[in-house]
Amino acid sequence: CGIVGYIGHREAYPIIIKGLHRLEYRGYDSAGIALYDGEQINLSKTPGKVSDLENQSQVEISRSGTLGIGHTRWATHGEPNQRNAHPHFSNSGDLVIIHNGIIENYESIKTELTKRGYSFHSDTDTEVLVNLIEEVKKKEGVKLGKAVQIALNQVVGAFAIAVFDRSKPDEIVVAKLGSPLAIGIGEDEFFIASDATPFIEFTNNAVYLEDGEMAVVRPGKEIKLRKIADDAVAYPAIQELQLSLEAIEKGGYDHFMLKEIYEQPHAIKDTYRGRLRVEQGIVKMAGVDQNLERFLNANRIIIVACGTSWHAGLVAEYIFEDLARIPVEVEYASEFRYRNPVITDKDVVIAISQSGETADTLAAIKLAKEKGAFVFGICNVVGSSIARETHAGAYTHAGPEIGVASTKAFTTQITLLTLLALKLARESGTLSKTKFHEILTEMEGIPAKVERVLESNPLIEIIADVYKDAENCLYLGRGYNFPVALEGALKLKEISYIHAEGYPAAEMKHGPIALIDEQMPVIVIATKKGHYEKVVSNIQEIKSRKGKIIAVVTEGDSQVRDLADHVVEVPESSEALSPLLTTIPLQLLSYHIAVMRGCNVDQPRNLAKSVTVE
Ligand code: G6P
Repeated sequence: CGIVGYIGHREAYPIIIKGLHRLEYRGYDSAGIALYDGEQINLSKTPGKVSDLENQSQVEISRSGTLGIGHTRWATHGEPNQRNAHPHFSNSGDLVIIHNGIIENYESIKTELTKRGYSFHSDTDTEVLVNLIEEVKKKEGVKLGKAVQIALNQVVGAFAIAVFDRSKPDEIVVAKLGSPLAIGIGEDEFFIASDATPFIEFTNNAVYLEDGEMAVVRPGKEIKLRKIADDAVAYPAIQELQLSLEAIEKGGYDHFMLKEIYEQPHAIKDTYRGRLRVEQGIVKMAGVDQNLERFLNANRIIIVACGTSWHAGLVAEYIFEDLARIPVEVEYASEFRYRNPVITDKDVVIAISQSGETADTLAAIKLAKEKGAFVFGICNVVGSSIARETHAGAYTHAGPEIGVASTKAFTTQITLLTLLALKLARESGTLSKTKFHEILTEMEGIPAKVERVLESNPLIEIIADVYKDAENCLYLGRGYNFPVALEGALKLKEISYIHAEGYPAAEMKHGPIALIDEQMPVIVIATKKGHYEKVVSNIQEIKSRKGKIIAVVTEGDSQVRDLADHVVEVPESSEALSPLLTTIPLQLLSYHIAVMRGCNVDQPRNLAKSVTVE
């Protein structure tokens, strides 16, 4: 979910609505806003998107007020209808709250509050929390801030909340544990949001709350920061924001996803800039240099991640084992954390996350740390929870990724992981100087090659038109390109809702081959380096069963061209770097198919970009 709040001297409504639009990547099942003008609290909520809320609130409520809070929801407890949308009132109607996260013990608190006469009008855990705060406030006779602190000590779960009190029109109380929360500091005004994007045009100064912190904000006064556990005073570290407005707008593209696909040559360059030093023959990564011994003495590397980041981890498994000869295990963070995994202080855990907020990945990191492992983070979002929780790390520097389906985050993660593998391989001596140099030089040529792949866009659009009505789709690849096949299938199902599966090409004969008939499009990555001949045999097997073949091949290939129904060429590269090229046509194919099917590319149904619940 995304939360936004404002308190100051401007009208809160436009700031909150715009802010909610920017946070829609966090969920868009329902949305709501509460505005307070000192006399009346105006509330508007609706299932659907922020634009639906905008339409509704235009007619439904007075939009005046210099205090406001808003929410865009990714449903956990309770279906995404109007009742369950945030903000939520307490029973007296005096307290209003927005919440991102989950209160795990809400049932027992609810039972207790019900006994004390509280009634509930939604199925949410959030409404329970606001009433708990109200109960504490009444029973203890304390002010809102204190009541929030006491109440939060009784809950188990994760939260980022903003709450205000009718009797205090100049104050908002916020708190964080697990879910992110940033406070933007203006002149006599404060902005509150799940990330800094809602307020970058107003201020460059922000405070990111740490886990277990809460704050009371009052215009004209300094932020009052406290620890939730013991009410101890904490001191806010004010950070200067580096975000630009341009980076979070569409810039002439129809969709963020397309913009982000096209940004890849730049994004990849930004990832290796300053790190890849071909002339000196080194890879510079501060977080690795400072912990080199931990890496070099590692018995194995365990990679934890979710979704697309997990696929980047799978590519890294090939790179690390191939170049650096370190055994690697790649784990879904959600499985790892609940599996009682064997981890020792000889293990290095690499956590990969675009957002740096994924709850399962964060929990896996905490577990690995408890067991003594050294944890290295690879994140895109600077200052995110995972970036802060890990012992050391490196940023991908891909710039904000807003389309829910991850594209440039994936290729930049692979870029960074490749640099890391190269560095470790060189330091440990598993890679010769010549080979090391060769790959470094090749990496520098990748952005230009990605540009060339992007030139195939019109051809890919034609192919998309042929297969847009498919009901199923199979993606095949081998070696380094097996994870690329998985990622291709994920992209298609995420945004076009076509059922798609990725498989190692050779595994096809053990099951998926049964599905192949003249209706089945099969996308095969068949580039020259790697297991070309073997993949060609797999293509033959598909052809003899009349499947439709769309092949991604190396420029100038003729053998596959003769067999396939369509081919998309990518420039020649070593196998290790080929995923950076072969991924691109698959992203474009999914994009065009989704657009042609009339799907909402940037905000596919049921998904969220940043999943801060487990
Ligand atoms: C969500 C997003 C995916 C993303 C995954 C992991 O499911 O929709 O695109 O790959 O979370 O996110 P992370 O931010 O940890 O990379």
